[in-house]
Amino acid sequence: MYEVENLEKIDLTLSPPAEEPARQYYYMAKCRCQVRAFEKENGRLPKACVVNYGCQMNARDSEKLAGILEQVGYRLTEDENADFVIFNTCTVRDNANQRVYGRLGVLNGFKRKNPHMKIALCGCMMQEPSVVEKIRESYRFVDLIFGTHNIFKFAELLNATLESDSMIIDIWKDTDKIVEDLPTERKYPYKSGINIMFGCNNFCSYCIVPYVRGRERSRKPEDILREIRQLTAQGVVEIMLLGQNVNSYGKNLEEPMSFAGLLREVEKIPGLRRIRFMTSHPKDLSEELIQVMKESRKICRHLHLPLQSGSTRILKAMNRRYTKEQYVELALRLRREIPDLAITTDIIVGFPGETMEDVEDTLDVIRTVKFDNAFTFIYSKRTGTPAAAMEQVPQEQVKAGFDRVLAAVQETAREQVSLLQGRVMEALVEEVNDHDSALLTGRLSNNTLVHFPGDASLIGSLVNVVLEECRGFYYFGHLA
Ligand code: SAH
Ligand code: SF4
Ligand code: F3S
Repeated sequence: MYEVENLEKIDLTLSPPAEEPARQYYYMAKCRCQVRAFEKENGRLPKACVVNYGCQMNARDSEKLAGILEQVGYRLTEDENADFVIFNTCTVRDNANQRVYGRLGVLNGFKRKNPHMKIALCGCMMQEPSVVEKIRESYRFVDLIFGTHNIFKFAELLNATLESDSMIIDIWKDTDKIVEDLPTERKYPYKSGINIMFGCNNFCSYCIVPYVRGRERSRKPEDILREIRQLTAQGVVEIMLLGQNVNSYGKNLEEPMSFAGLLREVEKIPGLRRIRFMTSHPKDLSEELIQVMKESRKICRHLHLPLQSGSTRILKAMNRRYTKEQYVELALRLRREIPDLAITTDIIVGFPGETMEDVEDTLDVIRTVKFDNAFTFIYSKRTGTPAAAMEQVPQEQVKAGFDRVLAAVQETAREQVSLLQGRVMEALVEEVNDHDSALLTGRLSNNTLVHFPGDASLIGSLVNVVLEECRGFYYFGHLA
């Protein structure tokens, strides 16, 4: 592991090392010189702002970007009017893209007043050539663009940007590389996400992720376990193992290991209290995983199991590789085997060719499985995916279907959450309540939130809470 003070020892008169991560630490040392020069000139440290637009995997990448910026001397801020701003973008649905373009306009205004400001864009959206073309032509004030495959090179690219006045673009088509041991700046002291794999091989016909994140690559179990041990030593009690399809973890390793096998090893780490993971693809959820979850004392009673559609016909067109019946059977088996388990899901409404009859099938699954929570999305056409070439559903029909699906999941979620009324359950105290500073917010193992009176010193600890009053999707309670 590299330590902070090592940056001082790096000899910048030598040429940069070829191997990683040593090369990036060399460039961090160079960036630090630039930061010092800035401090001398301006009498203050430069400020940097990292904005995340995507999923938890992107959020974890953002923590790495922030870690490097902090390491080289930037002061991190949430204010976008900073000296260095980086947007880590998402392109899974079009509204994610539109938000980025909107915010870029605002940044341009800031940059006019602070011409030394540097603006960088990275993440999934940048893996789309049409996006890069648009930025190159219409957003010329952007200083740096890179993608998902070379994010480990951030220190090197940051240095190049600080030394240059022209737009730097570095996008790789794909990679088989995983660079370990770069610094990270975590958002929460008591919980953390951990990437266990990158990319996706599933090619669901609506989804752009496999195109922008590349093929599936698993990190070695020893690297994952070492990272978790380091985190627990720093006080982390809850981790979330991240991957687009964690159930296929380990298949491409030199010594293959199943996801359930990895969980067994993670369970043994002392000091670690809670294990979460996401996302599980229903087609790959093994019997072994159900058994490991059942026996575990640390794996949380929550499974996110995206349904996408309840219609077998639509599921086939989506290339999901399970039927309505297979999904329902799996979900009900999970409910039987692990009675306290909360099952949440993702649903898309308006996939090409979807009829009201298909929506009925989705409603039927919602009512049968009784999801504890669900994210419902309106289908968004993604250029280059097979579904983009299929016949699209008229807007009004999509809207009608969406409203019905949303109402149904809200109903089952309310019903499921209310089942806990009066029980005493363990909660991880996460923060002081946003609206009332006398209250703390804690998260139950099954992912339900509970608000209760308490002192901020409890943040990061596990406490028992009486679930007094159900307020729809969350509880009010008090310490037991
Ligand atoms: N790997 C995860 C999902 C990643 S994307 C999985 O397979 O479950 C998160 C969610 O975004 C998906 O579950 C899906 O519901 C939704 N989504 C993906 N592409 C979409 C699109 N083109 N339009 C609308 N929703 C989409
Ligand atoms: Fe997209 Fe499907 Fe891969 Fe999930 S499993 S990231 S929905 S292609
Ligand atoms: Fe978005 Fe990329 Fe995640 S497209 S959902 S940020 S993998």
